[in-house]
Amino acid sequence: MHLPLPDDFHAHLRQGDLMPGYVRDLAAQFGRAIIMPNTVPAMTSAKAIAEYKKEILAAAKDVRPDFEPLMTFKLNPNYTEQDLKDMMAVGVVAGKYYPAGVTTNSADGISDFEGIFPVVALMEKLGLVLCVHGEEPGEFCLDREPAFIKRVEALAEKFPKLKIVFEHVSSAKSVEAVKKLGPNVAATITVHHLIMTLDDIVGDALRPHHFCKPLPKRPEDRAAIREAAFSGSPKFFLGTDSAPHQLGKKECPCGAAGVYSAPVALPLLVQEFEKAGHLDKLPDFIAGFGADFYGIPRTQKQVEIVKEPWTVPATVNGVVPLAAGETLEWKIKR
Ligand code: NCD
Ligand code: ZN
Repeated sequence: MHLPLPDDFHAHLRQGDLMPGYVRDLAAQFGRAIIMPNTVPAMTSAKAIAEYKKEILAAAKDVRPDFEPLMTFKLNPNYTEQDLKDMMAVGVVAGKYYPAGVTTNSADGISDFEGIFPVVALMEKLGLVLCVHGEEPGEFCLDREPAFIKRVEALAEKFPKLKIVFEHVSSAKSVEAVKKLGPNVAATITVHHLIMTLDDIVGDALRPHHFCKPLPKRPEDRAAIREAAFSGSPKFFLGTDSAPHQLGKKECPCGAAGVYSAPVALPLLVQEFEKAGHLDKLPDFIAGFGADFYGIPRTQKQVEIVKEPWTVPATVNGVVPLAAGETLEWKIKR
């Protein structure tokens, strides 16, 4: 079966020695990806982002020479219009809003919501997309995302031309809110939120490699996410939030949040959409609606995927991937 080559509208590649392996895993399945800026140090300047992009392109070369990283910066209230223009000139298409402390490497995130309005107004003016990690600090863990919906609604109302992506929606309430808001508000959906609930993290045993933010929630939340993904609504598209953490950073007393799905994303998606009887909705979900929302051309590239069982390795580049040890039905043909 041929599919359009997917775009990933939310991916983490990290920095340093581990980065090239993560880039290759991602570029093996995707033609373009939104690269998240929560590196250490964070991506906050045109210079750093240009350098990062160069390293990503170099690492992708052997796997997919035409891989396109779409760069982002970490939002803070201090950027000037010139800072934003400089970042756009090196390939930045979006800024990411992390509320302080809600996820990996977000201690330097936003605690004064209204303090970001001036920068957000500049983003609206320049046509930069605002990607939002929608969780309210300080709330009970399962309520953090629902508690943040009011912020997304406030942003959408105050900045009617701003494109906002409610990243990795994990609750029925957020899905509902995104549907109700105007066409400038969309959401990404991950592979793991399509298939998991909280039971898959702590229901029978503690499964640290499934632990991620926002937490997968109740069965009815997963049902709403699946319904949105299978609905054919242009407001919902793939962003894997593939977030590699080395095995030792997950299997320890204070484990990191993040699911590594890049090595298995497309086969798992095909499997899930097929099982649900919605394969016809997959092309737009992986390679249509996201590009339309970001205002970039839809890909003309294709990937071939064949029904050929394979077993997901226990580790990939030192990380335990999603579905490790499981046998998947579909395999990408190289
Ligand atoms: C991500 C990471 O590890 O960078 N972790 C996660 O649990 N999803 C950050 C994020 O997107 O929240
Ligand atoms: Zn993420």
